[in-house]
Amino acid sequence: MHSDRVRLPSLLDKLMSAEQAAALIEDGMTVGMSGFTRAGEAKAVPRALAERARKHPLQISLMTGASLGNDLDKQLTEAGVLARRMPFQVDSTLRKAINDGSVMFIDQHLSETVEQLRNHQLKLPDIAVIEAVAITEDGHIVPTTSVGNSASFAIFAKRVIVEINLAHNPNLEGLHDIYIPTYRPTRTPIPLTRVDDRIGSGAIPIPPEKIVAIVVSNQADSPSTVLPPDAETQAIADHLIDFFKGEVAAGRMSDSLGPLQAGIGSIANAVMCGLIESPFENLSMYSEVLQDSTFDLIDAGKLRFASGSSITLSARRNAEVFGNLEKYKDKLVLRPQEISNHPEVVRRLGIIGINTALEFDLYGNVNSTHVGGTKMMNGIGGSGDFARNAHLAIFVTKSIAKGGAISSVVPMVSHVDHTEHDVDILVTEQGLADLRGLAPRERARAVIDHCVHPSYRAALNDYFERACAKGGHTPHLLREAMQWHIDLEETGSMIGGVLGVAASA
Ligand code: COA
Repeated sequence: MHSDRVRLPSLLDKLMSAEQAAALIEDGMTVGMSGFTRAGEAKAVPRALAERARKHPLQISLMTGASLGNDLDKQLTEAGVLARRMPFQVDSTLRKAINDGSVMFIDQHLSETVEQLRNHQLKLPDIAVIEAVAITEDGHIVPTTSVGNSASFAIFAKRVIVEINLAHNPNLEGLHDIYIPTYRPTRTPIPLTRVDDRIGSGAIPIPPEKIVAIVVSNQADSPSTVLPPDAETQAIADHLIDFFKGEVAAGRMSDSLGPLQAGIGSIANAVMCGLIESPFENLSMYSEVLQDSTFDLIDAGKLRFASGSSITLSARRNAEVFGNLEKYKDKLVLRPQEISNHPEVVRRLGIIGINTALEFDLYGNVNSTHVGGTKMMNGIGGSGDFARNAHLAIFVTKSIAKGGAISSVVPMVSHVDHTEHDVDILVTEQGLADLRGLAPRERARAVIDHCVHPSYRAALNDYFERACAKGGHTPHLLREAMQWHIDLEETGSMIGGVLGVAASA
């Protein structure tokens, strides 16, 4: 097996066990690992590292592309390995450790981590651990189901551990396009003008002598946890599709829309599924994670091409897609997240960015990350990379959460990830607010009329009218602006506090 997976014979003597490779990671090191939206993470070495740390404690700073699958963040957290973690995670055990202050989490725009490494604003990784389907004749690394930050981690690290995962289809080779921007201030433009352009190499180019260990593993990526569309997510999709029809009718978009970006999670996936039954044709995606809906759209003949940084699928779709990769390969490319999310490219291509909010406020500020203003959920991910530079920055959410105890539309968000200046369209199952070209008072009216749940509408309207009576360009009642969040914290519900009039509305 090893000669086709490790094609540079001089590297074969680097084969070792995961435990031996994990022993190369020392206390206090900065480690860069592959993995993006629970796809393509190195699996055996981090697990061996967690096992070792249970007996002989050690701590590292861990950088990845985004979230890890196979419960690795959980295992590393439980073993006390993580001193610092960046730039994104979705694990409930790690989330708890972040929120009790025992792990220092740096929540970053996903396009920025390697840029900060390149400019030495962050400490370079001492060692990189990268999952691969193969090492080429030149000693270059062919990634698996994600590229994420793997290429730059391998380039910047002094030493590289490669995990060859036999569970992945070797046919993944050829899917990747590795382009690394040159150094500033003499950087040239990124030469990508179409979603299907290929501008780099098929493998991560590093000097083979940097590869200090090769570990063979055989474990699948974790299946995605997206839920099938429900009545609310279907309604969100329907509102958005009506809006797109209006944009086409007004001549602002063609019926292939613009390149689509869809964030993680069930809501964004449902919105993309909604496009299957839409009149739009010849769609394209320039996104970071490609979920089930990407392949549903390809199968329906709706999607021409999808560019991403990872592929994260449900168990059923995983077997169908990777078992028939030839069917999809000429319609796909996986890029470094720095390129999939690059502001220059996002602005140039005119991307329609669809991301999910936890909550948004009257004036269009969006909170994607912090529950109750203090507790980290997952992280900003790529939503800021896209929203700030998109042709259309769209945020979707259900209008209420936790059975109605929470309104996702509030007077003032408890934490801001995307400011009112970066947000064009807000959608809940109640309707769609088009904020383009509106002044704050007009935006608030659109949000109240179209997005808020009926059980909170009267209270929000009352807040807005009293704020307007007080005056201001962006009217607020500062003593009350956080009251909905305070009520939630103190009573477990936004209904029943000072603004409890909502309950009877
Ligand atoms: N306050 C508190 N909790 C809320 C909430 C609010 N206003 N709105 C939603 N939630 C809770 C839900 O109840 C749910 O809780 P549960 O897991 O206990 O059931 C959880 O948040 C997830 O919400 P859900 O409605 O299932 O949406 P989702 O799976 O699509 O995730 C985000 C929503 C915002 C957490 C997710 O999209 C995210 O992390 N976004 C930021 C990163 C990003 O946008 N990346 C985009 C590029 S990949």
